[in-house]
Amino acid sequence: ASTLGASAAEHGRYFGTAIAAGRLNDGTYTTIAGREFNMVTPENEMKWDATEPSQGNFQYGSADQIVNFATSRGMRVRGHALAWHAQQPSWAQGMSGTALRNAMLNHITQVATHFRGKIHSWDVVNEAFADGGSGGRRDSNLQRTGNDWIEAAFRAARAADPNAKLCYNDYNTDNWNDAKTQGVYRMVQDFKSRGVPIDCVGLQSHFTGGSDYPSNYRTTLSSFAALGVDVQITELDIRNANATAYANTVRDCYAVPRCNGITVWGVRDSDSWRSNESPLLFDGSGNKKQAYNSVLSAL
Ligand code: XIL
Repeated sequence: ASTLGASAAEHGRYFGTAIAAGRLNDGTYTTIAGREFNMVTPENEMKWDATEPSQGNFQYGSADQIVNFATSRGMRVRGHALAWHAQQPSWAQGMSGTALRNAMLNHITQVATHFRGKIHSWDVVNEAFADGGSGGRRDSNLQRTGNDWIEAAFRAARAADPNAKLCYNDYNTDNWNDAKTQGVYRMVQDFKSRGVPIDCVGLQSHFTGGSDYPSNYRTTLSSFAALGVDVQITELDIRNANATAYANTVRDCYAVPRCNGITVWGVRDSDSWRSNESPLLFDGSGNKKQAYNSVLSAL
């Protein structure tokens, strides 16, 4: 096959990209996105600050634009993200305790209900674990509502959209030996043992191309999968688009049967949140880079 999405589909997988609603009027952008990818993640448009800018006032216009772009082209959508410490609206940032817990649960219920039937997978909770050696939770206003906030979020999402796959998503969870990876692993193991509804784990995989693409990445993917969840690479970008690191990442996913999809975090380098690192598969003019060819031949 001659595109990323078609190649991935031949292996029973998808190949996705982050999409920004503000770029949907750029013909070069939409041409590449529509041709190469068969899964879409809204880059910012489904986050709490975008969808509930004041409490109880829900705004779906930009997110709906992306969902319509995707579904009209037969692409699937990964919802991102229902509960997260970052990109919260200012009204939520100042909340705590029961009021914040209830606001979070209402947010999840409302947003997942609005998009019910249109979302293949939801990042229900994003980035809840701490960096460094503790293996524990990140401190945040949500964490301070009680350690059970993550499972409460997953149960609310399941109730609102029973057919969506529900995922936990994080970064720096790539090296199997890192305490953060182990912490997330133990949470997923606990959720599976207690029947908390979780279907998948997303590894963001924002790599520099150095030691943060670990030689044991495949072990990490297969270890999570062995818990009975699917795994996805959800926000892949690599400093300077190192072609070898891209190919290795893709091959690792393809070696693990339950690694069922890969998403890169943007279309062209100029669209990237790390644009000064040129980390994507297309250059600013929309030309295929060496990394594109290495990914396509690895697929
Ligand atoms: C980033 C977006 O790409 C930027 O446009 C925005 O300013 C900040 O967020 N982890 C995530 C993503 O889960 O939502 C982040 O996206 C990148 C890190």
